[in-house]
Amino acid sequence: MIQNKNESISEPSWLNLPSINLTIKSLFTSYLLTIGLGAILASAQILMTHGMADGELGLSVDDIVYSYHGDPTNSKIEIKLNGSMKDKASDADRLEIIKWVRNGASEEQWNEKIRDIVYTNCISCHSTIPGLPDFTQFEEVKRVAKPKDEGASTSSLTRVSHIHIFAISFIFFFNGIIFSLSVGIKQWFKVLVVSAPFLFLSIDVFSWWLTKIDAGFAWLTIISGIGYSACSAVTWFVSLYQMWVLPRKDKDYKINAWKS
Ligand code: HEC
Repeated sequence: MIQNKNESISEPSWLNLPSINLTIKSLFTSYLLTIGLGAILASAQILMTHGMADGELGLSVDDIVYSYHGDPTNSKIEIKLNGSMKDKASDADRLEIIKWVRNGASEEQWNEKIRDIVYTNCISCHSTIPGLPDFTQFEEVKRVAKPKDEGASTSSLTRVSHIHIFAISFIFFFNGIIFSLSVGIKQWFKVLVVSAPFLFLSIDVFSWWLTKIDAGFAWLTIISGIGYSACSAVTWFVSLYQMWVLPRKDKDYKINAWKS
């Protein structure tokens, strides 16, 4: 016993990525490779669902807006103005109405000029024919001016939000634990890389809700996504490199990465 104790004093075992044993390296590596595969599949899924939301390949602010806020070009009134109501007004008048709808169909602009256009072109039928929306009533115009597709519903956002936060937190936690054992990296940088993803994650989920309410917040979703992807990429590459490449360099790393 005593001899063993002396041995461990003269030859301490250092806790850091290049020095850990094969068992824990295999565990860390299997985890990182699987997570890497998951990240590739997740990116593909994001590109396919959100990325195609605006009809063009590649993720853009518009995609985020369409996914969470809804497609502002897809209101009943715009569809009709390009369809069966196309001949009911001049191109200039139709354009004015469509522009107003896309900008949120405010009551202010309605009073300013849109009401006149609609009164001139539409209410001969849309106030007299039963069953048609009565466009002398602002509420009825507003109703057909709403995007048909209103983006993500509150219930689906609530569900996805908490699942996303719980699940992704675990990924960041394990990534962080592994990366914390790295050598030769400044403490402040480690602190940043292990904790920033959690902040970005919260901002990400928060930004979905903000974007649902106001399309102007879509950039926040993109920035937070880039933020935690960048941090994860750093932890992933550094950890694998230090476990498998650094030990071949025949250098002893005499540090305990978890001690301050
Ligand atoms: C000559 C009569 C007539 C005029 C003028 C007219 N509409 Fe219509 N509108 C209809 C009829 C009939 C329908 C139902 C058939 C259809 O949807 O095509 C309709 C349907 C609609 C609908 C779908 C309503 C719903 O709830 O399904 C919208 C929106 C609409 N019109 C907008 C307009 C606008 C905007 C104008 C003015 C630029 C206009 N209409 C002028 C006759 C008219």
